[in-house]
Amino acid sequence: MPTETVYGLAANAEDELAVRRVFAIKGRPATHPLIVHVASAEAMASWVRAVPEEAQRLAAAFWPGPLTLVLPRSARATDAVTGGQDTVALRVPQHPLARAVLEALGGGVAAPSANRFGRVSPTTAEHVRADLGEDVDLVLDGGPCAVGVESTIVDLSQGAPAVLRPGGLAVEAVERVLGRAVPVRTSSTVRVSGSLASHYAPRAGVILCEPAQAAARVEALRAQGQRVGVLGPEGLGLPAGVPLYEVPEEPAGAARVLYTRLREADAHGHDVLVACLPRAEGLGLAVRDRLARAAAPRPPEP
Ligand code: TXA
Ligand code: MG
Repeated sequence: MPTETVYGLAANAEDELAVRRVFAIKGRPATHPLIVHVASAEAMASWVRAVPEEAQRLAAAFWPGPLTLVLPRSARATDAVTGGQDTVALRVPQHPLARAVLEALGGGVAAPSANRFGRVSPTTAEHVRADLGEDVDLVLDGGPCAVGVESTIVDLSQGAPAVLRPGGLAVEAVERVLGRAVPVRTSSTVRVSGSLASHYAPRAGVILCEPAQAAARVEALRAQGQRVGVLGPEGLGLPAGVPLYEVPEEPAGAARVLYTRLREADAHGHDVLVACLPRAEGLGLAVRDRLARAAAPRPPEP
């Protein structure tokens, strides 16, 4: 199912067999909770024990949209969906096809990103087919995702709000609406699989750098005989013949194309990708977070 952030692997959140199949297809540990997508902010009430005032404010400001709220769950959110946690993650997506599915179902759709565990999230129907192939019954093609990175997750279950994953909604926008600073806590004890160090990983090794250092890094790596590709904006002054997978300097533009460019680069069989970091503001936070995870040391292939 397309959403404005990334494509989701969708199951009726109240159909335990369907939810189990999502975990099986993704190859995701059963203790990692899923996001429940609902049609409207009003629909949130039946999935949680209480709707705190700050949740209402964020929902009114940003739903439908790339924001996920973590709240104390009601009995409607089963252990299968929440991984046995006492909280549930909820989101009202904006994509018209996702909204149509949710309105037709009248319930909640549990949907993690439609990629195999630990791989780059899909932002087109083609990406989903390439990753999941015959394992899924149907791919709804809603075109390329407008936002391009996963939703921003805000935990409101612990008193003071915290960001568990920077994403498609700027943290600054969340802070403006709440009227207070909201810390980013990506290494919490909560099981957020996107918070594992080596997530969103392409096959090539990834080296992070500031745009101004890219040309020198590339020269040095090529001198060692490495097949190098570069992820970053134009105008880096790269040596001739080095493939550039263009990711705009402007953070929202970078977010939109990031996963597609990572896939394109991957298809070219580079040894190393030199990835330029966007500014640490707005959606730049999400892009930097995903690039850092792509660059993190990987567990050995199974
Ligand atoms: O944009 C998105 O959020 C996409 C689209 C499909 O909506 N979905 C997505 O799902 O990114 P997934 O499963 O790849 O990431 C959801 C994250 C996971 O890291 C999960 O651990 C976290 O949300 N999560 C789910 N329930 C949670 C909870 N109760 N407490 C803390 N984190 C939770
Ligand atoms: Mg994911």
